Amino acid sequence: MISRNDPCWCGSGLKWKKCHYPETENPEISLADEYLKKYDIILKTKEQIEGIRESSRLAADILKKTCAMAKAGVSTEELNAFAHKLHIDANAIPAPLGYGSPPFPKSICTSLNNEICHGIPSPDIILKEGDFLNIDVSCILNGYIGDCSAMVAIGKIDPVKDNVMKASKDCLSRAIEILKPGIMLYEIGDVIEDCAAEYGCSVVDQFVGHGVGIHFHEAPQVAHHRNRTKIPLASGMTFTIEPMINAGKRGGYIDEENHWTAYTIDGKPSAQWEHTLLITDTGSEILTK
Ligand code: MF3
Ligand code: CO
Repeated sequence: MISRNDPCWCGSGLKWKKCHYPETENPEISLADEYLKKYDIILKTKEQIEGIRESSRLAADILKKTCAMAKAGVSTEELNAFAHKLHIDANAIPAPLGYGSPPFPKSICTSLNNEICHGIPSPDIILKEGDFLNIDVSCILNGYIGDCSAMVAIGKIDPVKDNVMKASKDCLSRAIEILKPGIMLYEIGDVIEDCAAEYGCSVVDQFVGHGVGIHFHEAPQVAHHRNRTKIPLASGMTFTIEPMINAGKRGGYIDEENHWTAYTIDGKPSAQWEHTLLITDTGSEILTK
């Protein structure tokens, strides 16, 4: 029997009485029940994890192939059509298509240069030398969802773009490195803010990563900016980390016509990389690779 002052069994490092000590005596309550009740977080079962692993692997594969298609002279609609077909061929559904309100009109997001996220593919957007873009692929396979994104440089990009592209990738890698049961959700924001600052860049605070797997966007919200969300990570959590890093100011605004695309407030470039992660008993696993 653990006593009230022993470290909590969930691995948070807090005393049991400060963490998972039951409000009413109920020794039967499982960690999964506790997380659902307290935070609305679904700790996934082995079977669910296997499903999310499959959809994540597919998302990563489609992302890789679509990134390889991104060249000068290619339109973002061509990338969309290509990625859409890969979903259909794999018996998967592109999660963005028809998602939200107004319904997202395409199967992937393609966010170019000063676009922070949710760029909409179009035959009128032709990639050219010196552009860079984020391609975001989220797919539903057998009811499970995987979500990932990456940057592609079109030919030679200027040093500002090069720097912010490296910054966002490094922010994601360093955040992944700290993941394990018991660390607090806010520690992800701390690592990313510190990393972005080293590159002289800023962290977007209007969009966040998210729980993923059973639903496209589930709890918790995973903020990339400095925050105080005191939720200890637990084995079985699946969520994205997808830092949007700006070369200039952190602010953004939404396109007034399509109600989706977010642009940097100062017109400077923005970059983003994203993975779907699983918290394991000892650390984490990148599912979208
Ligand atoms: N990874 C992005 C996100 O979680 C994917 C957006 S798809 C969209 O927000 F349909 F919401 F645009
Ligand atoms: Co996402």
